[in-house]
Amino acid sequence: MKGTFPIEKFGALQTPFYYYDATLLRNTLKTIQEEAGKYNKFCVHYAVKANANPKVLGIIRESGLGVDCVSGGEIKAAVKAGFPASKIVYAGVGKTDWEINLGLDYDIFCFNVESIPELEVINELAAAKNKMARVAFRINPDVGAHTHANITTGLAENKFGISMADMNSVIDLALGMKHVKFVGLHFHIGSQILDMGDFVALCNRINELQEQLYARQIIVEHINVGGGLGIDYAHPNRQPIPNFAEYFATYHKHLRLRPQQTLHFELGRSVVAQCGSLITRVTYVKQGTNKQFAIVDAGMSDLIRPALYQAFHKIENISSEEPMETYDVVGPICESSDVFGKAIDLNRTKRGDFLALRSAGAYGEIMASVYNCRELPKGYLSEEIL
Ligand code: LLP
Repeated sequence: MKGTFPIEKFGALQTPFYYYDATLLRNTLKTIQEEAGKYNKFCVHYAVKANANPKVLGIIRESGLGVDCVSGGEIKAAVKAGFPASKIVYAGVGKTDWEINLGLDYDIFCFNVESIPELEVINELAAAKNKMARVAFRINPDVGAHTHANITTGLAENKFGISMADMNSVIDLALGMKHVKFVGLHFHIGSQILDMGDFVALCNRINELQEQLYARQIIVEHINVGGGLGIDYAHPNRQPIPNFAEYFATYHKHLRLRPQQTLHFELGRSVVAQCGSLITRVTYVKQGTNKQFAIVDAGMSDLIRPALYQAFHKIENISSEEPMETYDVVGPICESSDVFGKAIDLNRTKRGDFLALRSAGAYGEIMASVYNCRELPKGYLSEEIL
């Protein structure tokens, strides 16, 4: 089954471009709010890193979600899109002074702190402004997620977070500082996770850590479990809205929250991936010795996931209903890894046809570059071009 696209409107647009189905995005957000809303004190933040297109951010802001930022640039983008600073969490292993100062000036909800040197700098910079910075510690739970090696983050040897062994001493340090307020614990085990057992393992680990803190009469106000819920790249139309009911129910069932605690989530991919497609035109169909190539006008500079992570994006010829043939779908960039898919079945393809690379709403447009002096792709909402 193919996706539905208003291709009669695409002719006027310069390809390649990102096309976002605004209705699907709104329905996804509604589902998130309904499913999270079933539980007391579940609070969802959108991970801006997945897609910071201002029009997409605008729709997400309307839904009432908070935001998770990982740079000063993302904080600026979130504030510009109208998200209240009181709903911004800010993570990252290498926050620079200007970025910390920006967070302090906006009085963001919380800094997710990843090391002792960072904690010391936040305390100093907050002191200089005579402010109190709210901090949560990102604890590395040493829980492996069954996902791609490049996007797993919760294992012991990762650069992210503070080790469990150091948790108590870091908390003691913070409790002795005058310009930081210790408010929570933060975790994130990886991305594109489809096995709920991985999240159960995280819950079990958090329960153990909470018991340790409880023994010291410490009950943190906020637990943040990061993001990571995956999507079905192979079948974008089968389940366009990920199973948020199962996801939130897993946390409700396995995480032992104290009544005064709020549970925060930082979802990126599951919010925006399925609503976005990269639309590209076929420039040439080239016959090789043993195969044929569909050479398209999008390249790895527009969507780097296949080249960088060997990621699969379903490709459809949305201009053709002719019988299926097999193609390698490749871009124009001077790199042999500029390949979107090998031996892909497409309806018979000719120069000028539109192809859709599906499930590209997350980590697509935002990771685009100008390599080969190419223009950055534009992004359009469905409702803009209808
Ligand atoms: N919170 C933290 C601390 C993170 O590091 C991430 C993603 C998220 C939340 C959001 O995770 P999500 O819900 O989107 O899985 N560029 C890669 C993905 C990198 C993810 C980095 N961290 C890709 O294209 O697959």
